[in-house]
Amino acid sequence: MHRDDLFLEFVRVVEKAAMACARTMGQGDRKYSDQVAVESMRQEMESVDIDGTIVIGEGERDEAPMLFIGEKVGKGGFPVDIAVDPLEGTNLCATGANNAIAVIAASEKGGLLNAPDIYMDKLVVGPSSRGLVDINAPVEQNLKAIAGALDRKVQDLVVIVLDRPRHEKLIADIRKAGARIRLIGDGDLSAGITAAVVGSGVHAVMGTGGAPEGVLTAAAMRCLNGEIQGKLVLTKPADKDRLKKMGIDDLDRVYKTEELAPGKSIIFACSGVTDGALLRGVRFFGEGTRTHTLVMTTMPHQVRFIDTIHAKDDPDVKIRF
Ligand code: FBP
Repeated sequence: MHRDDLFLEFVRVVEKAAMACARTMGQGDRKYSDQVAVESMRQEMESVDIDGTIVIGEGERDEAPMLFIGEKVGKGGFPVDIAVDPLEGTNLCATGANNAIAVIAASEKGGLLNAPDIYMDKLVVGPSSRGLVDINAPVEQNLKAIAGALDRKVQDLVVIVLDRPRHEKLIADIRKAGARIRLIGDGDLSAGITAAVVGSGVHAVMGTGGAPEGVLTAAAMRCLNGEIQGKLVLTKPADKDRLKKMGIDDLDRVYKTEELAPGKSIIFACSGVTDGALLRGVRFFGEGTRTHTLVMTTMPHQVRFIDTIHAKDDPDVKIRF
């Protein structure tokens, strides 16, 4: 078993990544924002006492100089698998829009699915609806199940969907069923986390986004008792070869939360880069920087919101509430 306070190291890692890329907010260069977050996360990982292996990262070694799948991170210690999305919502950061976050998840070896970097059709719901939905069922049926679990009408539900042409039919189906929709430009991972937090005003996330984000969502669901169901989606011929290489041949397979993130001991941490539904973004002020982080563990089952003031090294610094 890893150290009990290992989660604090991951808090530091996501805080640093968030602070680094938040400096690029609104500069219109999503690649640069991402690069800054990746470099910061990679550097911080060097001082974490784990023997870490990246299983969800920035891609293959030849296209990603850092945090590529298979890369070893940490200064040695307990063996863990690591999933990262140093900047989830690169466009959101580049345009200063809400809900950009820096994310990491960890588990004992084999605890996070090594998913290919392709698309995944996803259905994410909170704890009340867990076990009551089916990604293969018609949208209306799932919405009725969610509404029933929450003791309300379908008209009272809010579903988050990525605003993409591929979701035309999904959006039409949700509208026909009567539920409300929040279309988002990017960031279905932070949307999924929100859907699993009671009182957030979001009840489900539906539609196709990245498979790596699906695994990270599953890690968060394990900590929040929510549910994700995912089906891999092929969009180009190369995807098929990729899956074959990884030994995946059943394209109809529905991956459940426990298959995407089967680990017994899961740590999930994310820091707000820009303001969001659950987390404030990074705030720079004269005497320091303030970050807001969500860190969760399955063993023990704990969920923490950490508001950190990174004060300047100055004896006159004033701390505000
Ligand atoms: P990035 O952080 O890599 O920009 O991804 C943002 C995101 O919106 C994810 O949240 C989502 O899963 C995926 O991109 C959707 O992909 P696409 O933009 O190709 O529709």
